[in-house]
Amino acid sequence: MESRPQLFDFHGVSMTHYVTNNWENVQNFQARPDDILIATYPKAGTTWVSYILDLLYFGRVSPERQTSLPIYKRVPFLEVAFPSLVSGTEMADKLPTRPRLIKTHLPVQFVPKSFWEQNCRIVYLARNAKDNMVSFYHFDRMNVTQPEPGDWSSFFQRFMEGKMLFGSWYDHVNGWWKKKQTHSKLHYMFYEDMIEDIGQEMDKLCSSLGLVPSAEEKRAIVVEAQFDNMKKNDMTNYSTVPCMDFKVSHFMRKGKVGDWKSHFTVAQNEAFDQDYQKKMKDPTLQFHTNI
Ligand code: A3P
Repeated sequence: MESRPQLFDFHGVSMTHYVTNNWENVQNFQARPDDILIATYPKAGTTWVSYILDLLYFGRVSPERQTSLPIYKRVPFLEVAFPSLVSGTEMADKLPTRPRLIKTHLPVQFVPKSFWEQNCRIVYLARNAKDNMVSFYHFDRMNVTQPEPGDWSSFFQRFMEGKMLFGSWYDHVNGWWKKKQTHSKLHYMFYEDMIEDIGQEMDKLCSSLGLVPSAEEKRAIVVEAQFDNMKKNDMTNYSTVPCMDFKVSHFMRKGKVGDWKSHFTVAQNEAFDQDYQKKMKDPTLQFHTNI
């Protein structure tokens, strides 16, 4: 495995070669009508919603998945291509499940066109910028396939400038929010709502996907997908991935709303809020930074 890639500008979005290596195959990826695309900005809770979807679709029909296949093999990461590992597109092509659950961090304008042509269902999960930034910082510290994070204050600046892998958080959440107006099969969710009332969010998710799990099944999924249970579970906690150094930070780190308060200085918070007002003009898209 190579180490610490550099960010570069790729059609106006910061990327690393691990994401652009396989670009032609990503853009030509053939989606199927029943595919479900799980789209997020990195560190918004992708693994959490992926696991819930995997349990909803396959928890009962193939319980052996739960003990034998890590989540990143059940839900391939479409655009990623590490040297000497199977690429995301190849993994997705080989997925035996129906539907296929496929993960992406791409900003909406980069999504392969077949997902729109096939009118696929999409689940987008967004997380408030402050906690998202903190989570991203710790992730970049512990994962050598991510760009060097630098110190907290430089990371903080770079986040506001949108120079992160997969680009600007502001553009990402807004771009996908706008897409909801024209793509009715896009279900847009918020991490904070899941923390506040996972049962209600699962109900909304199921009704948008046309799923009707029993009350007992839902209860079991809520328990299995609790932070502490996912942290203990080697199939969901990424402990099987060599590029992550858990001595630096855990993948399942805190799982909270409001952890930004232990990272942002008062001055940073003021600067952040001012900048945020300028960038987040759409009054219909509101985030909670406390619950
Ligand atoms: P923190 O670093 O704030 O703890 P992703 O899967 O998109 O990489 O997101 C990872 C973030 O989601 C981490 O945030 C992780 O702890 C959090 N997360 C994962 N599973 C969770 C769960 N069941 N409940 C709450 N947060 C969860």
